[in-house]
Amino acid sequence: MTLPPLNPALFHLDSDHLWLMHCSEGPVPRAVVRNIRAYLHKELWPWELKWKEDYLGVPEALRAEAARIVGGEASDITLTPSTSSGLVTVAQAMRWSRGDEVVVPLGEFPTNVWPWKALEARGVRFQEVPLWEGHRAGASAWDSTAPRAGEDVEARLLAGLSHATRVLAVSWVRFQDGLKLDIASLGAACRARGVHLVVDGIQGAGTLPVDLTGTSAFATGGHKGLLGPQGQGFLWTDPAFRKDLIPMGSWMSVEEGTAFDRASTDHHRAWLADGQRMEAGTLSIVACTGALESFRTVNEAGIPAIAAHIRLLQERFLEGLARNPAWAEEASRLRALLEAGRLGSILSLHHGGRGPAAMQELLMKGMRRGVYASVREGYLRVAFHGWHEPEDVERVVDWLE
Ligand SMILES: Cc1ncc(COP(=O)(O)O)c(C=O)c1O
Repeated sequence: MTLPPLNPALFHLDSDHLWLMHCSEGPVPRAVVRNIRAYLHKELWPWELKWKEDYLGVPEALRAEAARIVGGEASDITLTPSTSSGLVTVAQAMRWSRGDEVVVPLGEFPTNVWPWKALEARGVRFQEVPLWEGHRAGASAWDSTAPRAGEDVEARLLAGLSHATRVLAVSWVRFQDGLKLDIASLGAACRARGVHLVVDGIQGAGTLPVDLTGTSAFATGGHKGLLGPQGQGFLWTDPAFRKDLIPMGSWMSVEEGTAFDRASTDHHRAWLADGQRMEAGTLSIVACTGALESFRTVNEAGIPAIAAHIRLLQERFLEGLARNPAWAEEASRLRALLEAGRLGSILSLHHGGRGPAAMQELLMKGMRRGVYASVREGYLRVAFHGWHEPEDVERVVDWLE
C-alpha cells in the first residue's frame, strides 16, 4: 500500500487514540491551531489586523478552497457556519406557494428535516420516502433492515415525487447506514422534472469527489471529513437557482457593502449575484482562518487520492471482517455495497439483532483498546480517512474478534 495521502504527522493523534470518528468530528491539522493563534494575536492588537488581507482576504481564500472541494467556482460559494445554516438559508430564501412539497428520504439526519418542516407554517408539505424494503426510522430505527447492493434507491425517491414537489433534499452519504446516493443521476432526473435537488453533503465532503451538475444547492459543515474546526462550513448554489433566492439582506449581501470610500448610508445598491448574496454579515475570521488551513490540506492531498486510499483500507478491513464468523455476513453485505459504488467513508455494520446495550459494550471494549468508533441508530460506524494506515485496519479487525 502506498503512503497515506495525508501525512499522519500533520495531526496531533497518538496510538492511544485510533480515531475512526471523523463522521462525528474530524481532527484538525496542527497547523490550524497555529494559524488561529496567530490570528487571535492580531485581535489582541487590532492595529495589526489588515482589512484587505485578513477581514476580506481570508474569506475570499476560503471561498476558493471550498470551490475546489466541490469542483466549482468561488463565486458560487456562500460561507456559512454549518450544514444546518446552509440548508436553512436555502429553505427560507426560496419563494414558496401553499401546497408546494419537499421530499426527503426516510431516516435523514435532522439537519435535512427541520429546515423543511419549518416551512409547514407557509403551507409547504414535508414528505419522507423509504429507500428499501424494511427501511424504518424514528422510534423503530433499530428494527430497520440494512440497505443492500442492487436497491435502486434513486428510483424510489423519484417515484416519490409529485406534481407539487419543488425540492428533493437528500444526504449525499447517510449518517447512520453510510449509504451513498448518486447525486449526479438524481440531479439530472430532478432537472428534467423541474425539481431542485438540495444536498446535505457533510458526510462526503473532503473524502469523495462530487459532480454537482444538476444539483441546485449543496451544504456542508467543515468539521467532519473536511477536518476543520467547528462552526465553519459552506453552501454551494447553482447560479440559476441562486438568482431566484430572496437575498440574505445583510450589509454584506449588497454591492460595495464593504467599500468605505462610498457612503455606507447610500442604500442605492443592487443585491450581489454571487454566493455572498446569501452571506449573513461579518464572518468569524477565527473560524475562517482554521477552515482555510484544513480545506487547503485536503485539497493539496487531493480528494480523489483520499477517496482511493479510504477504499483500499475498507477493502482490507472487510477482508479481515469476513474471517470473523460473527460479522462475516455484514462483511459480505458491505463488500457488495462497496463494489456497487454505494459507500462513502463510513462503513456501517448493522447490529443484526445485537441491540443497543451490546453495541455500547462493543464501543467500550474498543475505547479500552484505544479504538474510537461510534454507533448511530443500530449501526456501528467505522470511518477511515486519508491519514489511516494498514496497521490501523488490523487494530479494528482485532477489536471486533
Ligand atoms: C448527514 C449529516 N448532516 C449534518 C450534520 C451536522 O450538521 P451541522 O453542520 O449543522 O452541525 C451531521 C452530523 O453531525 C450529519 O451526519
